[in-house]
Amino acid sequence: MSFMEPFRIKMVEPLTSLTMEERIKILEHSGWNPFQVEGRHVTFDLATDSGTGALSQDQWAAMMQADEGYFYSRSFKKLEKCVKSLTGFQFMLPAHQGRAVEHLLFPILSKPGMTVFSNYLFPTTRGIADLVGLHAVDVPCQGSPDNSFNGNIDCERLKVELEKVGPEGAMVVLAVASTTPTGQPVSMANIQDLSKICSKFDVPLIMDGCRYAENAYFIKTRDKEYKNMTCKHIALKMFSYFDHVYVSAKKDGVYNTGGFLATNSEDVYNKVSGRMFYTEGFQTYGGLTGRDMEAMTIGLLEGIDDKFLQYRVESTRMFGDILKEAGVHVIDPIGCGIYLNGAKCLPHIPTCEYPAFALHCALYVSGGIRCAQLGDILKLDESNERENPKSQHILRIQIPRRVYTLSHMLHMRDIFKGIIEKRETISGMRVVDFTSSDYSAVLEPLNGKLFDE
Ligand SMILES: Cc1ncc(COP(=O)(O)O)c(C=O)c1O
Repeated sequence: MSFMEPFRIKMVEPLTSLTMEERIKILEHSGWNPFQVEGRHVTFDLATDSGTGALSQDQWAAMMQADEGYFYSRSFKKLEKCVKSLTGFQFMLPAHQGRAVEHLLFPILSKPGMTVFSNYLFPTTRGIADLVGLHAVDVPCQGSPDNSFNGNIDCERLKVELEKVGPEGAMVVLAVASTTPTGQPVSMANIQDLSKICSKFDVPLIMDGCRYAENAYFIKTRDKEYKNMTCKHIALKMFSYFDHVYVSAKKDGVYNTGGFLATNSEDVYNKVSGRMFYTEGFQTYGGLTGRDMEAMTIGLLEGIDDKFLQYRVESTRMFGDILKEAGVHVIDPIGCGIYLNGAKCLPHIPTCEYPAFALHCALYVSGGIRCAQLGDILKLDESNERENPKSQHILRIQIPRRVYTLSHMLHMRDIFKGIIEKRETISGMRVVDFTSSDYSAVLEPLNGKLFDE
């Protein structure tokens, strides 16, 4: 499929250029943990696509015309109109990001002790479920025909689980598309089946729509029934099966912050409006400036455009494909982001020596590339061992929207290729200090040097 960046570039930011020796020193000072490296020392930051996209000329121009009024500003009214027409819901409330909506909504829809079922709850969503006293249970499907929609929820298993807890005991959150574990889309048929089940059991069905637009593109390109529909129309149809939808505008909203709740329930709308006054701010700005609401409105419209989505999804797939050709162990199928199996990329490093961390360090040293490791790889398990068998040793690449070009991807492919060619020389790692999370841990190469050349 032929595609290109559907834009030209008007403002540029120079890329950081350091030598390998300089990067080794920086990494050493950062406790051999790429998460700890300052942004100015990173050339390609692929740790997340959340809030890291580039703005368009229309977004910048709209910000100049923002109305910063507190009550029902012009900027709020534009956002409200846009969200209502994109989602088809009657009520909307803005928030500063996706998790803020979860934090407001979950206690209104649930009581402590209830269960929230999902295909895959994002880690912060799981954390919020925990904070409000909910049991979080993922019931993902085990693959799908052609692996096209591996983000689907397992409807049969869900029915069994719902029978057990009964209508008062549950709610369902479907991540569309999922971010964890490997960014897979959900089919329209799965959404339709799920909606019927939730109506039958009378439990609320909520969409975590952080990647709703990419999901619509996957439906368009993988389900022939939808090939002639625009992504905007597919998304509208997806939304129509849910009771409530929340979206983080930092992803498919193509903005640096923001989020919203959309619902047809006046009761939920009133309750969330009441609560948010104390945490996010009044319901007509929800922690956002007028500028944010202006840019978010445009970002939401740009982010659901078919040509933009083709570039977004196909360039990610192309990057994954050229990494595979270079010998990198990319997890198939490629969805929203590229997920690498660190253990398989560096098979000479046992998992107790953290191959994903070692690969991450090698990528930083060789090319200034930062990714993200997934899961608590370094956390001690119940038996006080670090070699947690549940650790997946996955390295995730998420590409900020409209930031890096196809030639950057070719360059990064060459960095990966160089690493794979000399992978035997890369040392395993040891944990020196672990206080709270993988993000802040201090490590070191086992024999003092990352590359044993
Ligand atoms: C599926 C999913 N849900 C929820 C969130 C939380 O959104 P936010 O970062 O805007 O709070 C994320 C963030 O990446 C996500 O990927």
